Amino acid sequence: MTATFRTSNPVSAADSRRPHLILVGLPGAGKSTVGRGVAERLARTFLDFDLEIERRQGKTIAEIFGEKGEGHFRELERALTEELRLMGNMILAPGGGWASNADVVGMLRPPARLIYLRVKPETALQRLGSERSTRPLLMRPDPLGEIRRLLDARKKAYESADHVIEAELLDVEEVIKRVSSLALGAR
Ligand code: S3P
Repeated sequence: MTATFRTSNPVSAADSRRPHLILVGLPGAGKSTVGRGVAERLARTFLDFDLEIERRQGKTIAEIFGEKGEGHFRELERALTEELRLMGNMILAPGGGWASNADVVGMLRPPARLIYLRVKPETALQRLGSERSTRPLLMRPDPLGEIRRLLDARKKAYESADHVIEAELLDVEEVIKRVSSLALGAR
């Protein structure tokens, strides 16, 4: 089972008695960059869901959406989440839609803790830049309208996180610092 993950540190370092820390928020909020930085700082194991799903499928997220649709992608997210139930103490960065599925979140939380990296849709889109082309939900004629709609639909789920960080106003190093101290506090 552990051999099926490619993480920053061996999954064997993950301690199932401790809660996972999960970063949620819009595409472009910085979940992957911050997660990787926090894991490095705290010598914890980081998992980027989208990269892991791409590795397992041998396809990009855009290809998965294009060939089998969003529903199939959500099933892959669910299956990955299910596996993480048996582990703990990891820093997790699922895609932006993961948090809006209460059943899936409920597989890990409690005891996992959620941290919402809050940014405005405009900022998220700007930070994504050309990376937007790898986000099928945003490859539509009105990307700002799309990301605003995503936020409207997900706001409640994101805001139900255990902590909210105003990532809009802070540089990435500061966000990493704040998330790291929350992670230490949650032990
Ligand atoms: C999605 C966000 C993406 C990726 C997929 C769907 C979403 O991840 O999982 O394109 O529903 O918001 P990021 O949040 O890392 O961009």
